[in-house]
Amino acid sequence: MCGIVGYIGSKRAYDILIQGLHRLEYRGYDSSGVAMISESGELNIYKSKGKVEALEHFAQNKDLSGAIGIAHTRWATHGEPNDINAHPHYSQSGRIALVHNGTIENYTVLKEALTQHGYSFVSQTDTEVAVQLIEYIMLTNNCSLFDAVAEATKRIVGAYAIAVVDRQNPNQIIAARQSSPLVIGVGEGEYFLASDATPIIEYTNKVVYLNDGEIAVINRGEELKVYDAKSAECSKIEITELQMSIEQLEKGGYPHFMLKEIFEQPRTLADCISGRISADGKSVVLSGVIEHKERFLNAGRIIIVACGTSWHAALIGKHLFEDYCRIPVVVEYASEFRYSNPVVGKNDILIALSQSGETADTLAALELAKAKGAFVFGICNVIGSSIPRATDSGCYIHVGPEIGVASTKAFTGQVTVLAMMSLLIGQMKGTVDQQTLATVASDIRRVPALIDDILGMHEQIEDLAKIFTYAHNFLYLGRGYNYPSALEGALKLKEISYIHAEGYPAAEMKHGTIALIDNDMPSVVIAIKDNVYDKTVNNIQQVKARGGKVVAIVTEGDTIVRDMADYVIEVPEISECLTPLLTAIPLQLLAYYIAVNKGRNVDQPRNLAKSVTVE
Ligand code: G6P
Repeated sequence: MCGIVGYIGSKRAYDILIQGLHRLEYRGYDSSGVAMISESGELNIYKSKGKVEALEHFAQNKDLSGAIGIAHTRWATHGEPNDINAHPHYSQSGRIALVHNGTIENYTVLKEALTQHGYSFVSQTDTEVAVQLIEYIMLTNNCSLFDAVAEATKRIVGAYAIAVVDRQNPNQIIAARQSSPLVIGVGEGEYFLASDATPIIEYTNKVVYLNDGEIAVINRGEELKVYDAKSAECSKIEITELQMSIEQLEKGGYPHFMLKEIFEQPRTLADCISGRISADGKSVVLSGVIEHKERFLNAGRIIIVACGTSWHAALIGKHLFEDYCRIPVVVEYASEFRYSNPVVGKNDILIALSQSGETADTLAALELAKAKGAFVFGICNVIGSSIPRATDSGCYIHVGPEIGVASTKAFTGQVTVLAMMSLLIGQMKGTVDQQTLATVASDIRRVPALIDDILGMHEQIEDLAKIFTYAHNFLYLGRGYNYPSALEGALKLKEISYIHAEGYPAAEMKHGTIALIDNDMPSVVIAIKDNVYDKTVNNIQQVKARGGKVVAIVTEGDTIVRDMADYVIEVPEISECLTPLLTAIPLQLLAYYIAVNKGRNVDQPRNLAKSVTVE
């Protein structure tokens, strides 16, 4: 959570910082702030509770000069979201300013020690401790800002990406990272700094990803220098070329990023599949798997760790790997796995599934499995993010930047990659026959067009949303491959409309949840023609018998459920394992339109952030 931006060059830093904050707002929007060293040498900090817009309003008519600055958009961890706790934070003398993404675990100990040395604190944040500590080291050791930051990183325990400026040196930004991401953009005589590449892409496509334990010294007009914080040795700088475009970061005429991302799915899935299924549909190519063929052939077990929507995709992955590869799979919440005492063997494969590639719990879970000797594989969207960099191998989902906080196209991208992976591993192991492989592979190629057809029904779903906008509770039911779809449908609704919703395995409902059903509690039931279709039909009858309203998602041409349910949405027929890719679309649209009707902030729902880099 939290996003940081920095700029040093010859342009007005404020404009670049604000634009960067807008790009990173998805990482948190409790407050934002900027610090710039002005033309007259002042270190000006402007900050404001709420969104970046509030900051812009606040900063009007202030001195916005200066070609060096740092900025921050916050998702509150320590201290309530208010102006004082907003970043950047000043050091006691007002000479240094700092922004931070992450959490400092030993901040109370450090704070106590600094208090004894005469430091006082204005905010409730852990971050203020870092800036005071750096100043304290600088003044007591009479050292440079770089040395002070290097020393401070040795004393700080926790996760951080920080950027620091010193009023007395308007030509330098020092940045450091441990567990939280940091990217440096290399322009012509200027440098950019950000939590991800999105604020950088409009200025340069050349970036350097800082590694854990590194400190960057960014001097105006000089070559970028990166050092190992512990050894103080100079690191080799690797410049990566970004493959992102500005258009991908804009709304492109849609009222919300979420709607744009829902409608993008035919194209994003085509990109995800592109080059990975042979033209004759007889083989799947995923180099990250093929290069480690032996590992997959000898896998005793696959453990998938993930959070949120990615965890739902992981549950679908379990069905896929067990069906096609005959490998036992366990799916774990990363946050639970990392603090458990898991039995992980050398023949286990751990798959870390994450859109952002930065989720702190998922990263920690993979490190734990790695330490226990497992082969770790990443399935991520954000190229160059922390998880792909920490894994032995992996596979990108290639769906482009996802900005809406509620995940949509990443979910379908993840399921598509999991489906392709399971076919490939199944083929290598001989657990999937050629006919099945050809059928499912050619169905994967049909998915983009089928999703396009479903999107064509958006008006029907918009009308349906009007009927249910004022429901207070929802039940989402599904079975087999579509039980995770029910969980995901419920999560989408909760996240953006703030309506309580529960996802449930349809048959399990009768063991308790059925007591909640009445005329006021609609059930969304995924009742496609799969191997438990008849059972799901029974479950619908059980809901109807209690006076419940049913919205059913059915296979095209279904008449049985149509006669029973109150409202029906049809999806085309496809291989059962791919049905979650189709059923996801009406569920995403339903949640979206209900949230819009309720006047919610769809792209930035309250209390949430897209990239959860704290525990
Ligand atoms: C946050 C986001 C969710 C996302 C989850 C896991 O909660 O709001 O949309 O599913 O994190 O994120 P990841 O990037 O690891 O998939």
